[in-house]
Amino acid sequence: MEQQLAELKASALARIAAVSTPDELEAIRIEVAGRKGSALAELGKGMGKLPAEEKVKVGKLLNETKTAVESALDARKAVFEEAALNVRLESEWLDITLPAPGIRPGALHPVTILQKEIEELFTSMGFAVLSGPEVETEFNNFDALNIPADHPARDMQDTFWLEGGHLLRTHTSPVQVRGMKRLGPPLRMIAPGRVFRNEEVDPSHEHTFYQLEGMMIDREVSVAHLIYYMKMLLQGIFKREVTVRLRPGYFPFVEPGFELDIQCLLCGGKGCPVCKQSGWVELLPCGLVHPNVLRLGGIDPEQWNGFAFGLGLTRLAMMRYAIDDIRHLQGGDVRFLQQFA
Ligand code: DAH
Repeated sequence: MEQQLAELKASALARIAAVSTPDELEAIRIEVAGRKGSALAELGKGMGKLPAEEKVKVGKLLNETKTAVESALDARKAVFEEAALNVRLESEWLDITLPAPGIRPGALHPVTILQKEIEELFTSMGFAVLSGPEVETEFNNFDALNIPADHPARDMQDTFWLEGGHLLRTHTSPVQVRGMKRLGPPLRMIAPGRVFRNEEVDPSHEHTFYQLEGMMIDREVSVAHLIYYMKMLLQGIFKREVTVRLRPGYFPFVEPGFELDIQCLLCGGKGCPVCKQSGWVELLPCGLVHPNVLRLGGIDPEQWNGFAFGLGLTRLAMMRYAIDDIRHLQGGDVRFLQQFA
């Protein structure tokens, strides 16, 4: 029996040392040291038949064997438990200084990106950035810009009329009027903002879009100044040398009025689908401020003159980012906007 115990102990310890999973370990525990039917329990039962003096000796040995096997089982179990804990700690590891998962950083709208660039450029040249209200008076939107009530030019802009002589501004030009009155001459200002027209919506028309107005009033301002600032603007936007030309264009608040074209950046003026084979792309209307506009803005046209321009910010953003449908810009779909981040 002593022999049996020694063998049992040796084989149990060897097997315990060799197990690779907690389940295997548990199986050995039940087989060798379980309360009922295990090897040790069976040997314990057999002790009853031994003579008294043997009983004491073997009993002691049995207890020692049991203790040795059990403590080996416990030690091995502890090793498995620690390994499991380490795996869990590793998987639940958290760096609380990282940004919280699930929060997606926002992105600037392409129109905003462009607007900010132009604001930076013009402020560096001494221009103030002004904003005016989207709900304007009929007077500021039309009359003060040399477009009286019976003027056919009113029909060029389909207007959302409101009550009490108000409307949704159809362009950013009324901020010229506010700028002249508020700041007086000499004046350098730009005014980006949202404008509204009662338009049928299609890939190139929206009822709501963005413009950027500009105005400079000083003494003896000429078309040469206008061209200089427009070239600065366009080179700032397109990041390269641009060639421009002026064609006559009619706007009641400027005289002379122009359409400024830029030599096609894609074909260099040779003619391509983008410039419709003409070599030129129409970019922005501008001109020298009409004396009536200065007068209505409280500025003496005998002393001062200036230029003004109106840039279609939304249109320019579409050109720059090759966006073929204006509705993408207005839809508020974050997936579309995120690509400009
Ligand atoms: N306000 C005009 C429009 O929306 C654009 C414009 C033309 C603005 C000539 C100007 C300008 O400042 O000089 O159609």
